[in-house]
Amino acid sequence: MKYISLIIVLLVLNSCKPKADFDTPDLTDKISTQLKFSPVLNPDFDITQKKVFPRSLNPDGDLELVTKKDWTSGFYPGVLWYTYALTKDEYWKTKAITFTNVLESEKKNASNHDIGFKMMPSFGLGYEQTNNSAYKNVLIQSAKTLITRFDEKVGCIRSWDHHKDKWQFPVIIDNLMNLELLYWAWKETGDPVYYNIATTHAKTTMKNHFRKDYSSYHVVNYDTITGKVISKQTHQGYADNSSWARGESWALYGYTMAYRESNDSEFLKQAEHVANYIINVATLPEDYVPTWDFMLSDKENEPKDASAAAVIASALYELSTFTENTKNKNTYLKVANGIMKSLSSKNYFNVKGTEKGFLLNHSTGSKPWKSEIDVPLVYADYYYLEALTRKANIQIQPN
Ligand code: GLY
Repeated sequence: MKYISLIIVLLVLNSCKPKADFDTPDLTDKISTQLKFSPVLNPDFDITQKKVFPRSLNPDGDLELVTKKDWTSGFYPGVLWYTYALTKDEYWKTKAITFTNVLESEKKNASNHDIGFKMMPSFGLGYEQTNNSAYKNVLIQSAKTLITRFDEKVGCIRSWDHHKDKWQFPVIIDNLMNLELLYWAWKETGDPVYYNIATTHAKTTMKNHFRKDYSSYHVVNYDTITGKVISKQTHQGYADNSSWARGESWALYGYTMAYRESNDSEFLKQAEHVANYIINVATLPEDYVPTWDFMLSDKENEPKDASAAAVIASALYELSTFTENTKNKNTYLKVANGIMKSLSSKNYFNVKGTEKGFLLNHSTGSKPWKSEIDVPLVYADYYYLEALTRKANIQIQPN
């Protein structure tokens, strides 16, 4: 009886302990419970059909599935790999392998720059977690495919082949994210071609994609004969001269990653400049989650982009481990924690069992194209899980 009373007292005391606003062990349960509501995890789901990768919800609230060719196809396997890492539950590993394997043939898809977006969250994370040499071979072939799109004269990898009437050689800021695949291949194979192309692309982008305040253009169109810039525009932002929130998040993440991989201090400086732009020039709202473009006049009435916030949080956790400036480090952690606190709250984290198993709501794919406005997006979930993992790995305390 004495022991039972003691246990009750301890349980009560424990429940009174102030809880961190977001806490990895607590969230892990919440995350795996919510993810299991995805129809694609149903044992009856047909993995051999063409569209198997969750991307978003369509306007009727139905699950939007995409084929392996879609730029977002790698994120769902990535969600599964991160969930396996968080839970250590073999169930997630089995599902991650199933969805990763569907993507294999994309290793030869050279029709755009998106191969890094597809292969690193799927085969890249899978290789990191299983050491499966078949995954390594897929990644090396993918890197070989990506470099076929590099143009020496321009000094960049061509992003898109569509809209040939509009652009000769379009390079979008997002393309920085694909360089991780090339740095990975350089480290695995020792072949400098991957390092040289990744670094040249990142430096050309540094020169041509940024304004004086380190905000970025979305699309830079190059002349393939002279290698010169023809025009600087937007595709998903509010205006050519505005600052598309996810574009800024790709820039921040891209240069932080490029510094991690190359140790080139120019990239660290660039990442810190972009962080300063986001935090101190563009500024984030009270809940740290930006609207879809930083230069909108009426931000109160514009949709948020939780995906940009998740990418920013993940990048800032990593950047906080690289910066030598203590004040900056504290700022990066404060902002990353602020974002994660919001995304983990009921304002963004979906109510259990709703939204077809997506974790987060309130992302915006492309407002100008009237597509995916204020909805769940699979890459928001992916970078949210990555940020959570990074936070746990650097063992920092929430504010
Ligand atoms: N890479 C496409 C996007 O961010 O919407």
